[in-house]
Amino acid sequence: MKSFYITTAIDYANGSPHLGHAYEKVLTDVIARFRRQMGDQVHFLTGTDEHGQKVQASARKRGVPPQQFCDEVSGEFRALLPKLNITNDDFIRTTEERHKRVVCQLLQHLFDQGEIYQAEYHGFYSTRQEQFLLDKDRNPDGTWPEIFGEVTEIAETNYFFRLRKYQDWLIEFLTKNENFVFPRYRQTQVLEFLKAPLNDLCISRPKERLEWGIPLPFDDNYVTYVWFDALVNYYSAVVDRPGIWPAAYHVIGKDILVPPHAVYWMIMLQAAGIALPQGIIAHGWWLQRGSKMSKSTGNAFNPLDLVDQFGADAFRYFLIREMNVGQDSDFTPEQFLVRYNSELANNLGNLVNRTLNMTTRFAGGVLPAAEGVEEPERELHELWAKTGPECVAQCEGFQFHTAIERTIAFVTATNAYIEKRAPWKLGKSSEPKDQALLRTSLATMAEALRLAVALLQHVMPTAAARINAVLGHTPGATWRDELNWGTRLNGNKVAEALVLFPRPGKN
Ligand code: MSP
Repeated sequence: MKSFYITTAIDYANGSPHLGHAYEKVLTDVIARFRRQMGDQVHFLTGTDEHGQKVQASARKRGVPPQQFCDEVSGEFRALLPKLNITNDDFIRTTEERHKRVVCQLLQHLFDQGEIYQAEYHGFYSTRQEQFLLDKDRNPDGTWPEIFGEVTEIAETNYFFRLRKYQDWLIEFLTKNENFVFPRYRQTQVLEFLKAPLNDLCISRPKERLEWGIPLPFDDNYVTYVWFDALVNYYSAVVDRPGIWPAAYHVIGKDILVPPHAVYWMIMLQAAGIALPQGIIAHGWWLQRGSKMSKSTGNAFNPLDLVDQFGADAFRYFLIREMNVGQDSDFTPEQFLVRYNSELANNLGNLVNRTLNMTTRFAGGVLPAAEGVEEPERELHELWAKTGPECVAQCEGFQFHTAIERTIAFVTATNAYIEKRAPWKLGKSSEPKDQALLRTSLATMAEALRLAVALLQHVMPTAAARINAVLGHTPGATWRDELNWGTRLNGNKVAEALVLFPRPGKN
């Protein structure tokens, strides 16, 4: 079995989870579930990033010790996972011993190899971004951009990691592996960034300025820079579990691609002699009225409330249907309702209801076998013959939104097939030919429904399981076989009804 190790970014434990965090988990879960269906041995990691200035400051503001603060916030992030039906195998916290131990080993190893050195630093420091600034970071008028918050001039001794030494190697690596970052246009941005000379990375913070961090193993007066600490989580979580590393993909937002993941992390691994991951998937941002959603924007409407109101499946469906992985998307409750009503309730829900209802009315609740293929059936079979393989290929290429669009088009075509066959009319006729057509149409709509559901199960796992259950169907272990038009449902007893996507306000 092919090993497929996938990770999300680990979330800062300094505020509550919001839509951006939820989306990343859902997207990664959809990929993980899809790969499991394809037969891979998946290991899925997520977690929380708990050290650094921001967390220390938030804990102080609340008047609690940082560890207690992190326990609470990390608990909130962890609680979101089952709510969204996320199938992570592990959850790492950077305050755990298993993580701190590996960070220290890595630092010591790099120090011993001469990849980390001590030097005097004079310059400007942004507390908000926890980074040193350069003149090129200034606005044209000489002021510092808003994102850096308060900027102070400092002079101090620190430890530096030799990034510059690996710049040519990284450029060559990315040039040779042109699909390393998905989408590809983001890889171009990394190479653009690498056109300017890299500065070595300051990986220490003096303890008098920041206490909440992992002490450097070779100098107890300093703690580790939070990014250097956090990135190691992907490795520390699995280092004792053979066969998992290297990662297949790190799923992250576009804001933390350059430099942390595409530059720091790649060079950290290369310098330490650790195998590189297969790639990085950089998704876009969810916006609300054009601006990035975050804790601080304080938008009154919280999209996560939709999970309570409409269920995890509908929420997952919307996020994956609406977002083209890599690009930004605007989140509006209106658009959520449009998709919910038109695609889920009226289209898919309608197909489920018709199938159950008509099988109950006209066939005593037992699905008959199809008895012939005429033009309407042939059209639907042909559409499926294209839809199935195309959707698999799109999912393999992370084009989940297009795969859903195709699947929903197939559901629409199935509903149109039902209109054409009008089983309610055939049911009134006692002609043997009409009765045979009735049986064929019932078998055809049920099989088409089963197939559509097979393509949606990584996105809407609960709805898929419920539909399969009312069709009396237990999906097989090899999912690819599930995608062949067949006769699996013949003779199955179906349920009379299933309310899948209730109208808002009703239940
Ligand atoms: N702690 C760092 C990541 C360390 S990974 C070794 C961090 N944390 S975060 O909480 O700020 O963000 C976590 C993830 O959520 C990031 O991948 C980020 O891009 C993503 N999102 C945060 N807001 C977002 C949106 N509005 N939309 C989509 N995702 C965004 O960065």
